[in-house]
Parts: sequence; structure tokens; C-alpha cells
Amino acid sequence: MMERPVMEVEVGGVWLSHPVILASGVLNETAASMMRAVEGGAAAVVTKSISLAEREGHPNPTFVELRTGYLNSMGVPNPGIEHYTKEIERFREEMPQVPVILSLYGESVEEFEELGRAARTLPVEAVEVNLSCPNVEEGGIAFGKDPDGVYSAVRAVRRGFPRGVWAKLTAHCPDIVEAAKAAERGGADALVAINTLKGIAIDPYLAMPVLASGTGGYSGEGIKPLALEKVWELASSGEVEAPIVGSGGITTGLDAVEFLMAGAAAVEVGSAVRRRGVGVFSQIREEIEAFLVEEGYGSAGEIVGLALERYPHEEVGE
Ligand code: SIN
Repeated sequence: MMERPVMEVEVGGVWLSHPVILASGVLNETAASMMRAVEGGAAAVVTKSISLAEREGHPNPTFVELRTGYLNSMGVPNPGIEHYTKEIERFREEMPQVPVILSLYGESVEEFEELGRAARTLPVEAVEVNLSCPNVEEGGIAFGKDPDGVYSAVRAVRRGFPRGVWAKLTAHCPDIVEAAKAAERGGADALVAINTLKGIAIDPYLAMPVLASGTGGYSGEGIKPLALEKVWELASSGEVEAPIVGSGGITTGLDAVEFLMAGAAAVEVGSAVRRRGVGVFSQIREEIEAFLVEEGYGSAGEIVGLALERYPHEEVGE
């Protein structure tokens, strides 16, 4: 009888029992909701993006379902790091073995530095620097769109935070490899690619945008090929050393396998919770495992970057 494949992976200093993580922005308002994601099979949780001070977020409507995914413009609502601390502590008490990655949202280098210092005292394994929210003027993409912004935000967090620093990159930049290299120079231990993509939906009968803020971040199955290509770009560049976490439209185990084969060491799953329910994390893990067994692979790690090895970059798309 064939042995079960090894599913454990290590990403930027964080050990995961398997490669499927809860993404920021879904099911992470409270300790209780994050615990539900773990009960649904998530190997680790990324929190919602947390700022220094409380943020109200955007007025409704902030969310719309589309044929091929979702559009949201929440505006990073959160209670501020001091108040959110109790949710992290509560989660940690109940689930001490499950890694927590705290997503940080800042609007200035000083804010990022202070957030990094504040996170240092919290029971989290890593932080994820949000360089990619498309729904705000000052933070998110404002940092992620160019290498200098990426470097300064990551460097600021790194100064205060001694454990894993993950940089969540945006596809809305001229060259994601340059952004990734800047994140590495700033001290990132892992790269997350990508966040939602800026989009818009218009109500033809009202002749106005559906979302109160006009544009929003597009997520779900529709963005999977684009997110996958960004992971591929990073992994095939030969210029990036940090492990990559793929994110964007991952809904099934085979989607996750594609990301691993493109070079991701793990994947973040968010929108698929709406498609398949909170058990989606277990379902994806089981589907990855079934694929590995079927194809005779011994571990999830074994397929990381396999498609790159089979099709060397120079021969692809040239
Ligand atoms: C939001 O709060 O608007 C979304 C957060 C993000 O995309 O990073």
C-alpha cells in the first residue's frame, strides 16, 4: 500500500501542516471566525488587515457577486491593533498549534514601523505587509506600485519585528519581480502574490457604479490565471529567493496544484469559502493529497516549481 504523501511545508519561518492557508479579508474579523476556518481545515490563518488606529471602512454597498468572482471595497475596516490583540490572544489560547500571520496595513513608513514594533509583542508567527489593497488612496497599492515603496514599508516593519515578514505584492505594478526584489532587500522572508485586482461593476439601470466607492478589488476564479502567471513570473525569474505564497482564485485542489507547480510553496484561499463553504480548506487539502497519490508523488514539496523545471523559462513565451 502506498504511503500517504507528506503535506507539511515551511514558508518564511512558518511550519504548516499542509499548504492551504486562510487568506486575509475572509472569516478573520474575530477569534471565533478564524477558529471556524481552522475547523474547516486551514493550516494557518492570516488575519484581516490591521492598522494602528481604528478604521471605519467604506460605506455600503461594499461587496457584489459577479459571474466569475466578487468585487469588494471594504476600505480596510478594523478595530486597530490594540483592540484586535484580544482576538489574536483568544485564538492563540484555543488553538496554540496553529500559526497566525498578522496582516498589517499602514499609510506611512512611520505607521508600518510602529505596527511592526506592536506586532513584536503579540503571539503571532509572522506578519504580512499589505502592499496591495486596491481600495484605498494612501496605503496598499500606494506602496506596492513601485519598488521604493515596497522596500520602505517592508524595511520599516522588519526594523520592529524579529520573526517572519511576508510581503503581499500587487499585480498593479510595472514589474512584480522588481517589487519582489525590493521586498527581499527590505528583509521579507516570503512573498505573497497577489491581492485582488482593481475592477468596477456598473448597474445599467441606475447608470452608476454598484459599489459606493466606485471601484473595488476583484477576486475569485476569474483572476486565477493572472495570479498564477505572477507566481510563475516570480519563480521563473531566477532573481527571487524567498518562498512564494500563491493567492488568487484558488478554489480546488487542482488549482492549488497548479500554483505549487508554478513555484508557490503554499496557497492562500479566501473567496472560495463563498463557493464551497468553510470546509473548503479540508477539501482542497484532500484534493491535493489525492492528486499526489494518483500521480505517485511523495510530498507536496516535491511538486513545487515542477512545471518550471519541465519548461525552462527561456523557452516559454519567447
Ligand atoms: C479592503 O478592506 O478594502 C480590502 C483589503 C485588501 O484588499 O487588502
